[in-house]
Amino acid sequence: MPVKVLGAGANVLIRDDGFDGVVVRLDQPGFRRETWSGDEVEVGGGVNLMSFSKSCSENGISGLEGLAGIPATIGGAIRMNAGGHNGEIKDVVSEVEVVHTSGSRERLNRDQVGFDYRRTDLKDRIVVGARLSLRRDDPQKTRLRYAENFGQKRRTQPMAERSAGCVFKNPPGRSAGALIDQAGLKGTVCGGARVSARHANFIVADSTATSSDVLRLIDLIRDRVALIFGTVLRTEIEIW
Ligand code: EPU
Repeated sequence: MPVKVLGAGANVLIRDDGFDGVVVRLDQPGFRRETWSGDEVEVGGGVNLMSFSKSCSENGISGLEGLAGIPATIGGAIRMNAGGHNGEIKDVVSEVEVVHTSGSRERLNRDQVGFDYRRTDLKDRIVVGARLSLRRDDPQKTRLRYAENFGQKRRTQPMAERSAGCVFKNPPGRSAGALIDQAGLKGTVCGGARVSARHANFIVADSTATSSDVLRLIDLIRDRVALIFGTVLRTEIEIW
């Protein structure tokens, strides 16, 4: 039976007919542990990145300020190498603990994870924990950096609406959002799904939206951008 692990569900689109298999969430206490030794922390795969990065930054622990406001679990963030212009989770990961579908456990050092732009080589290995290397800094500085990054995200992205984050990866050297915007697609609607007017790489959903609405809009955007710019956009979100 196919098995999928759902992190915070922030970068996933599930088709309207559902997923025929087992969906696991790592929300038991053991997957939410945080064990500190000096500036190193061992965190469970189910730890919420958004609250963890906030509490570290509030307490003068530096390294996660660039990930301010990213909705994810630690496991999901590592699996996708979550991040943005101000940093990626790979910058602070020293080791990752995974479970294979066979049930065996393995610890990988960061070089074995194959971190790249919004991807890793982990495939169907399940991230159950990680060791992060952070560092002490002046709490005023970490709070300020966190607030700046969070504020920038709030100003430029539709954080108050329902979305799955950026839909497409940026093509090398270009911005998917800018291409979609320049193609005149902001505000384009398919059923209950709409290209955000704030940031064109986000599709926002109203309460009537179905997955097929979002998928039709994804196809429309991809076709239009390919026609105008000759660039084929690839999805960043996972479609189940
Ligand atoms: N732009 C437009 N119109 C738009 C959106 C963007 O012209 O509708 C322009 C901006 O003005 C800017 C450029 O495109 O000159 C890049 O935009 P932005 O700074 O918003 O960054 P991005 O490349 O679109 C990336 C990540 C985001 C991350 C931000 C900030 C990708 C696909 N997206 O966006 O990640 O939050 O940087 O660090 O890599 C995500 O992965 O889900 C995500 C939201």
